[in-house]
Amino acid sequence: MSYLDTTHDLYKKAALTPEVGLCCTTNPVWELPGLKIPKIMQEMNYGCGSTVHPRDLVNHPKILYVGVGGGMELLQFSYFSRQDGGVVGVDVVDEMLHAAAQNFEEAERLNPWFQKEFITLKKGDALNLPISDNSIDVAAQNCLFNIFKEADLKKALEEMYRVLKPHGRLVMSDPTCEQPMNETLRNDARLRALCLSGSLPIKDYVKALTDVGFGTIEIRARKPYRILDPKHYPTEELIYIESIEVAAIKDPMPHDGPCIFTGKAAIYYGESDYFDDKKGHVLLKNQPLAICDKTAAALLDLKKDDIFISPSTFHYDGGGCC
Ligand SMILES: C[S@@+](CC[C@H](N)C(=O)[O-])C[C@H]1O[C@@H](n2cnc3c(N)ncnc32)[C@H](O)[C@@H]1O
Repeated sequence: MSYLDTTHDLYKKAALTPEVGLCCTTNPVWELPGLKIPKIMQEMNYGCGSTVHPRDLVNHPKILYVGVGGGMELLQFSYFSRQDGGVVGVDVVDEMLHAAAQNFEEAERLNPWFQKEFITLKKGDALNLPISDNSIDVAAQNCLFNIFKEADLKKALEEMYRVLKPHGRLVMSDPTCEQPMNETLRNDARLRALCLSGSLPIKDYVKALTDVGFGTIEIRARKPYRILDPKHYPTEELIYIESIEVAAIKDPMPHDGPCIFTGKAAIYYGESDYFDDKKGHVLLKNQPLAICDKTAAALLDLKKDDIFISPSTFHYDGGGCC
């Protein structure tokens, strides 16, 4: 059986019998005025962060969600979109699509604003999306792509890139791991499917995104996720896994490489009112300016003793350079 078949099998079971804590998130399940999340959706929260960021959701975007799970994030997206077919959910597991459809009926009972027609569910594979080119404003996936091996991850990202409109955004949450993992862990299909042994270092994860053409990357959050310890897993050392929330924007690739925002800022504290690098970055005195890693490196290269570059916070919230 291939690791993809093991994955489908595992989520078929997780659709038939909700497994609380199958994936692990430190995010509280957030609710908004008038938005109630059914208990069953909370029990079927198989994600590791949030992909629903209100600032991505202005002007009634057309939203695609791949790997629907119990449907919680599709309901949260619908809260902002509120139009028939505004959110399309794609999943390869029939039982998961069926469970999500039932959960939306419960959501309709709890939320007077919500109509299940706001969400269209489609059977399909992340590796071959049943969606037209250039038709989506916001695409999302939570805790699915980390399961894929390198060639499948590339294919899944190419598919997301293909269906997004120019300047559309792919919003994701996935586990990441900075430590090397041994081959036994890497090739354990069940641990991969459980989102435990497929994760990449952040740098490699971001490179997979920029390699398919996304010109702007935003790392929005970085959080503790899980421990693989020698007593319970085939590893000789303790492995610490984190999760990140990332947006990849289908901006054209800049000639000097992608803009990757990891939460750095520049602060000018010299004698003038501002510093202008003549490349489009004006630093007002004592005002932090959010900068991408490329701009941070260029400013450091100037070796000025009146500009401070902060470390990456991995909490980028928009604005700044580029
Ligand atoms: C870890 S769960 C995450 C569910 C949901 N995103 C959440 O945050 O709760 C992975 C989901 O992806 C679905 N899935 C697995 N392989 C897939 C594939 N190749 N294409 C589309 N969906 C897939 C599973 O059925 C399951 O719903």
